[in-house]
Amino acid sequence: MNNFSEAQKSAAVERPAISALCLAPMAGVTDVAFREVCVSFGAVQTCSEMVSARALVYQDKKSLTLLPRGKGETNYAVQLFGHEPELLAAAAEKVIALEKPDWLDLNMGCPTGKIIRNGDGAALMQNPRLVGEIVAAVRSAVGGSAKLSVKIRKGFDNGNINAVEIAQIAEANGAQRITVHGRTAKQLYSGLSDSSIIREVKKAVSVPVVANGDVFSPRDAEKLLQYTGADYAMVGRGAMGNPWIFAGLEAPGLYERVTVALAQISRAAELKGEYVACLEARKHFAWYLRGLRGATRLRDKISRVTTLGELRGIAVELCGNL
Ligand SMILES: Cc1cc2nc3c(=O)[nH]c(=O)nc-3n(C[C@H](O)[C@H](O)[C@H](O)COP(=O)(O)O)c2cc1C
Repeated sequence: MNNFSEAQKSAAVERPAISALCLAPMAGVTDVAFREVCVSFGAVQTCSEMVSARALVYQDKKSLTLLPRGKGETNYAVQLFGHEPELLAAAAEKVIALEKPDWLDLNMGCPTGKIIRNGDGAALMQNPRLVGEIVAAVRSAVGGSAKLSVKIRKGFDNGNINAVEIAQIAEANGAQRITVHGRTAKQLYSGLSDSSIIREVKKAVSVPVVANGDVFSPRDAEKLLQYTGADYAMVGRGAMGNPWIFAGLEAPGLYERVTVALAQISRAAELKGEYVACLEARKHFAWYLRGLRGATRLRDKISRVTTLGELRGIAVELCGNL
């Protein structure tokens, strides 16, 4: 990223980032352009959107586009989902051969209906034995070429809270890091994330633990790290349109937000083409402007953007000449 204002850069430099904040994998959100912005603000780890092991093994083109590492992503994970140990192992080998990520992450937390019905994502938490087989198979496929991590939830539902058991099984079979989101799959994103389960996992395993759930400010991250004793905190929704969180900063004013948003979307256009980038930019731009009064009146225009020129026009309407 080279389009940040000087004020922007110096603000980030003056206040050091919390050195333990990772960007969460988010399908449809954490593309290369957004991850590069987050890294430039201090995210210590980034992760691809989740990639289907099956689709990858069968050469699905869209899945292949999700793999590449962006500029400056020096601690980069590719996340796979699936439920068949051999297929996940084959996909992991392919990812290593194509992209050489620093980490291979296994998704055992996705609560979406379609994923669960296939036995993938958080459905795996209902089958501890299969978790062990998957981690062991992928560990042996990856060898020393990348580190292996797993991302889990508190449990599948309130009757099945087994994050500690799953984390221990993952560790015993070769996982080198565990991320825990403190909600059950049934909860989706409702209620509050339960930090105490993360604390229990941290006490129960020796590998580093990443605490995830409801970090919306630098202060939230500090509190979560302190309470759980986790080694890292992971930010998902709190980073949407708010990469400043990685620099330990509150979101700045309109001008800086628009400048960073435009830089991100221009970069996305370089990588995906202008049309696709602009369709996806609608949500990113709206997130960047969240909470700013003047922005509400332009919401309709933003939701119809198809070119970078239109987007720049809106930016000028908001801020004057940039
Ligand atoms: C739009 C969206 C997409 C997500 N996609 C993924 C994904 O691909 N893989 C994954 O492990 N988790 C995914 N998640 C879950 C997040 O990584 C994270 O665990 C969750 O949002 C809780 O963190 P937060 O409270 O900081 O948002 C997604 C979440 C959202 C909101």
